[in-house]
Amino acid sequence: MQAQLRIRRFNPEKDKKPTWGEFTLDDVNKTDSVLDLLHRVKWEQDGTLTLRRSCAHGVCGSDAMRINGANALACKMLVQRLKKDDDTVTIQVEPILGMTVIKDLVVDMEPFMDHYRSVIPYFVNDEPVPEDGRERRQSIADRARFDDTTKCILCACCTSSCPSFWSNGRYVGPAAIVTAHRFIFDTRDTAAADRLQIMSDSFGVWRCRTVFNCTNACPREIEVTKAIAEVKVAITSGEV
Ligand code: SF4
Ligand code: F3S
Ligand code: FES
Repeated sequence: MQAQLRIRRFNPEKDKKPTWGEFTLDDVNKTDSVLDLLHRVKWEQDGTLTLRRSCAHGVCGSDAMRINGANALACKMLVQRLKKDDDTVTIQVEPILGMTVIKDLVVDMEPFMDHYRSVIPYFVNDEPVPEDGRERRQSIADRARFDDTTKCILCACCTSSCPSFWSNGRYVGPAAIVTAHRFIFDTRDTAAADRLQIMSDSFGVWRCRTVFNCTNACPREIEVTKAIAEVKVAITSGEV
C-alpha cells in the first residue's frame, strides 16, 4: 500500500516556526511500524529528519510521538491500526506536546527528567540487611501492590498528554507520580513519607484533575490515573 506522511518539521537554526513536511512511501506493509516508515523517510528521502529512537521494540521509551493526534511509541504503532482501507494510509506525526522542541520530533526531556528525579525515584532503606544475609523479603500480596507501576519506561506519553501539565509545566506530572507510587507502596522502602510530602506540594498530585488522558496514552497499559488516585488516598488517609 501507499503511505502519505505529514511530519512536523522544525529546525531552530533556520526556521522561525514549524512547518509540515509531506512524504509518500510505496510498498508499505500493514505490519510496518510508524518508526519503520520514519526510517524510510530519513534513509531514502531526507536525511535531515531528526527523531529519537533506540530499541524499536517498545522497551526504551525514546520514540514517543503524537501520531494522528494521539501519543504513542512510533515503534509500537503499526500501519494496520491507522489505515482506513487496503490501498493507502495517511499518517500525521508531531512531537509530543508541552515540551520544548529541539529539532523536528526531538523534544527537550530534561524538565521531564527533573520531575522524575524530584520524587526520590530509587529504593531507600538504610536499615541493616537481615542477619541471615538474605534479601529483604516481601509477601506476594505486598509485591503485587505496586506491580503495575514497575512497568514504566519513562516515555512521557502520559505527562505530555495531560492538560494540567500543558497549562503548567511545573506540575510534576503522571509519569513522576507513577514512579513515586512504585516506591511509596513498596513495604521494604523507608522513604514513603518523604515522597508523600513531595506529592502533597502545590505542583504535586492535586494538580491532577482525573482527565484520564495519561491512562489512555500509556503504551505499557499502566493504570496511571488509578495509581495517582492511590497516592492521593495515601496522603489523606495516612495509610502509608
Ligand atoms: Fe510512559 Fe506509561 Fe511510564 Fe507514562 S506511565 S512514562 S506513559 S510508560
Ligand atoms: Fe492529567 Fe492523567 Fe490527571 S491526564 S489530569 S494526570 S488523570
Ligand atoms: Fe524504544 Fe520505541 S524505540 S520504545
